[in-house]
Amino acid sequence: MDKLAIQGGTRLEGEICISGAKNAALPILCAALLTEETLHLDNLPKLRDISTSLTLLGHIGMQISLDETGGIDLQAARLDRLEAPYSLVKTMRASILVLGPLLARYGEARVSLPGGCAIGSRPVDLHIKGLKAMGAEISIEHGYIHAKAARLQGARIFMDSVTVTGTENLMMAASLAQGTTTLENAAREPEIVDLANCLIAMGADISGAGTDTVRIRGVGRLHGARFSIMPDRIETGTYLVAAAMTQGKIKLRQTRTDTLDAVIEKLREAGAKISCDQDTITLSMDRRPSAVNIKTAPYPAFPTDMQAQFMAMNCIAEGVSSITETIFENRFMHVQEMQRLGANIEIEGNTALVRGVDKLEGAMVMATDLRASASLVLAALVAEGETVIERIYHIDRGYERIEEKFNQLGAHVKRVH
Ligand code: UD1
Repeated sequence: MDKLAIQGGTRLEGEICISGAKNAALPILCAALLTEETLHLDNLPKLRDISTSLTLLGHIGMQISLDETGGIDLQAARLDRLEAPYSLVKTMRASILVLGPLLARYGEARVSLPGGCAIGSRPVDLHIKGLKAMGAEISIEHGYIHAKAARLQGARIFMDSVTVTGTENLMMAASLAQGTTTLENAAREPEIVDLANCLIAMGADISGAGTDTVRIRGVGRLHGARFSIMPDRIETGTYLVAAAMTQGKIKLRQTRTDTLDAVIEKLREAGAKISCDQDTITLSMDRRPSAVNIKTAPYPAFPTDMQAQFMAMNCIAEGVSSITETIFENRFMHVQEMQRLGANIEIEGNTALVRGVDKLEGAMVMATDLRASASLVLAALVAEGETVIERIYHIDRGYERIEEKFNQLGAHVKRVH
């Protein structure tokens, strides 16, 4: 299993380009199931979650071909199986995103229940409830969700908590339903807007994406389209925090600054100087960061996917901070590993109290989930000496060429096979 060996203590300086957004790409790949014509995608990030998704779509019977420019053609003309097997769903929960499209276009789907997950129980009851409201018959058999519907019917669906992939699954299903579906208390994440824009390019009739009420008027069929995936706001935020922690100066290109308001505001509060235009962000930091309090919540509030990275910054910041996680119940697994590096963190319920220390010290640590592992890389960049991070397959799920990008900014990150 690969490890990362990181020599800490270098100030980050330079420029890198941000990759396409994983969390936009995953639902958009599944949207290709909604038409027999070709969906061409650009700016698809090269990540393990994307290859898992392509393996799943290939298993279902989708024709997939890559072109020379890195674009991809997806065609779901004739499918072999309407099924997402446990072996794939257990490695990536977002596999649940095939449920809505398969059911809407083929009238049937069998998708394994995701099961336990490192960062909490993460049920899919709202996906199921929404599809039932649209007329689907759903049973749970042998660990699989088995859904059937002659043709889904438009419905008014109120989701009693905000779910990102739940909103996406229902939006895709409703695109081919008979009549209008209204999703209330919908998630407002920019990735939802990206998916809606792709569906609209394929002929769907959707309004309100990016607000808490999304209206989808079902159409008889969708057609092929060309679409470019939006930039990854979490990758962008991770590099910004890294630069702030190392008191560096970096420029990030090919990003989208309008998707990062909460993160940028917190970095400014920590003392960073940030300038933005539409697709470029420059950050410079000329002092030790100040501790900042964080509370995660659905977009546009502070993202749970940036919580661990800000905790890493608070570990070496001046002052004391509190970090409250409101989305997932078990998302502090990085704390124990950070303590191995010398951090001073206490957890009480869903809040972590972080007392900034003068320095961290390199040690062996273990990556436990995707964003937790990113936070360990950040802590390692400022720790004295060498940190070795094990189980970095978690990082490869969501960060494209992480060692190459950090090294381009002057860091010393080595992948050890
Ligand atoms: C998505 C993101 C993930 C991010 C998360 C929250 C993708 C592929 N992943 O995950 O990176 O951390 O949003 O921003 O986009 N819930 C239920 N019932 C459901 C669905 C969700 O109770 O049917 C709960 C979950 O347990 C959790 C909360 O709702 O507590 C939010 O989860 P959700 O937004 O669904 O997360 P994901 O879509 O899985």
